[in-house]
Formats: sequence, structure tokens, C-alpha cells
Amino acid sequence: MVKRTGGTEPWRIGVLFSRSGVTAVIEETQLQGTILAIEEVNASGGVNGREIEPVCYDPGSDVHAFARYASKLLTEDGVSSIFGCYTSSSRKAVVPIVERHNGLLWYPTLYEGFEYSPNVIYTGAAPNQNIVALVDYMLETYGSRFYLVGSDYIYPRESNRIMRELLRQRRGKALGEHYLDLGARRSEFRLLMRDLRNNRPDVVFSTVVGESTAFLYQAYAEAGFDPRTMPIASLTTSEAEVSLMTVDAARGHITAAPYFESVRTDRNAAFVRRYNRRFGDDQRTNLCVEAAYFQIHIFARSLAEVDTMNPDVLKPVVLSSEYEAPQGLVSIDADNGHTSLWTRVGRVNAMGQFDVVRESMLPVRPDPYLVSH
Ligand code: ACM
Repeated sequence: MVKRTGGTEPWRIGVLFSRSGVTAVIEETQLQGTILAIEEVNASGGVNGREIEPVCYDPGSDVHAFARYASKLLTEDGVSSIFGCYTSSSRKAVVPIVERHNGLLWYPTLYEGFEYSPNVIYTGAAPNQNIVALVDYMLETYGSRFYLVGSDYIYPRESNRIMRELLRQRRGKALGEHYLDLGARRSEFRLLMRDLRNNRPDVVFSTVVGESTAFLYQAYAEAGFDPRTMPIASLTTSEAEVSLMTVDAARGHITAAPYFESVRTDRNAAFVRRYNRRFGDDQRTNLCVEAAYFQIHIFARSLAEVDTMNPDVLKPVVLSSEYEAPQGLVSIDADNGHTSLWTRVGRVNAMGQFDVVRESMLPVRPDPYLVSH
């Protein structure tokens, strides 16, 4: 039995999501998911009678600012758990800092895998939980000639390496690969459209992230391409990015993710209602909101059990914990600190929502090193 501290001081946590810069479009939603969960925990009495108090900074989509604020949180603000990061480059900047100070980073974003840190809890999808289902669905439904386009940083480059490997194993073909700056402007997508017209792939695999995602889909629509014969398939185009586009530009394109706002569970319906009540009816949930949300609840439950923020005591309880999330039951894998998640493939419909066209029967265990493939 754990001895309760009985204190009234709040539990301080660090929160690092960008409210400005190129990936604010998705990171702001992760911030909202985090805030909603914290408010729910606090409204139900906090954790062992103590409220959770977030210390939030805006790193402005700048990798160096992520590192600077992570250091400040751990050395000056008295925080040991940080909830944050979207891009893999920001995670890569923060991980050595949490390792040096023995903190915990809770990372609610899909990523390229091939990483393990004892100081990270990974609650977004590893490649075996999204890209494998996506490639199989696209090969079966559209064809085997893929063209790869991404923002120019570690996550797209690594995801495309995995995609090339999966295609090679399945006798598919990568016809070309094209990278654009993270902050690429509308006009920069024209050259890509020319390349697509010349290559005529069956599938455009996109790992473009942030604001410029909308430029890709708009340029594609303006070029007169047809998603029924050459859809864009993505792991990062969520409801947040779709909301930046006209529905006509998004409709018919495909994304693989553990969660869509359209997931039909009672828990999800209630979650979406609470999210809209808190942030407005025009706000859509997405895979990153949901991971940011459920990881706070897993943290709070684990903290209630041990009554200390000390990562050496907290982490063993987090590992192997389960939570009934909006996407369905999720659990943290004791071996690798990643999360068992559902695998879904969705196609954007006329409402800008994803129709789920394929889903796993059960949660899929994380295999961040793709050992089983
Ligand atoms: C990402 O950079 N992990 C989306």
C-alpha cells in the first residue's frame, strides 16, 4: 500500500506543443487534447486530492526552442514529466535532455520507429501499426506503382525508406521521391505536379506535414488528378490538415491511423462531444488529439497508484497499464514503452470526415523495429 503524501501542492507537468509556426495546425490540437484531459482529472478531484498543473511553453515549431524549453522545465521549473513534441526532429532534440536529467517524455505522435529510450513513453503509432496496413490496402485497391513525397526532415525520409523496403518485399515499385521544405509554399508544389503527370503513379505516398499539407492536396486538385485512380495515401493527413483544405481537395484521399473522429464507439462519441463543448463545434478531433488526451489519463492513473512523480517509481506502473481510449482499449507495452493501438485505414468523404475502409479486429502490438516484417 502506497503512503499518500496528503499534500495540497499541485502536480506540475511540462507541456511542449507549438502554438505558432508550420506545425501549429496539428500541435495546437495536441495541446487541446492535453488540456481537456487535465481538466477532466482536476474536475474529478485531481490525483490523490492534488490538481495537475501544466507549465506550458510555445516552442514555435523550432527544434532548438524545444530543447531549450525541455531543459528549463527539467532544471528550473521542477518538472519531471514532459508531454509534447510532434515532429521527430523535435523529439530527437528533447530525448537526450530527458535522458540526461532522468525525466520522462510522453510523445503522442506517430513516428518512424527504430528508436527506444527508457525515458520516453510513445503513445502514437509505430510503423507496424499504420504504414504496413496502408501499403497493403493501397496495393490491393489501386496498384503497385508508388511515388513518394515528403517534408524534408527525419520522419519523412525514414518513412520513405520503410515504404521502399515494404514495396520491394511486395513487388511494388517506388517511381520517384520528392522532398519539400517543412514550410514549403503553394507555388513549390507545381514542380511536383509535373513529375506526377510524367510518372503517372497508382499511389502518391505523402509524408508532407503541417500547414503545407493543404498546398499539396490543392495543387493536386488544381492539376485535375483523380483520387479514384491516383489517390494520395498518408499517415499524417488528419482531420486537422483536412480542415485547412476545401472538401473537394481532400475527398477520396486515404490516411492510415489508429483513430479518426468518425470512429464508432460510445466512448468516442462522448469524447468528441466534450472536445466540442470545450473548444468549439468547429474543432475536429484527430489521431494526435486522441493520443495526447489518453496519455494524460494513463499518467494520472499511474500517478494515483504510486503518489510520486519520480520516473523510476512511476514508469514501472505506466508500463503494461491499460486504458479504454476513444479509439478502443490501448495498453503500454512493458518491453518497449510503445503502445498497443488499433490500425485503421480511412478515406475522406464529402463531409471532410474519414470513412473507415479497413480496421484491425484487435489492438496491434507495437513493433518499432519492424522485426516481425
Ligand atoms: C513526425 O515527425 N513524427 C510526424
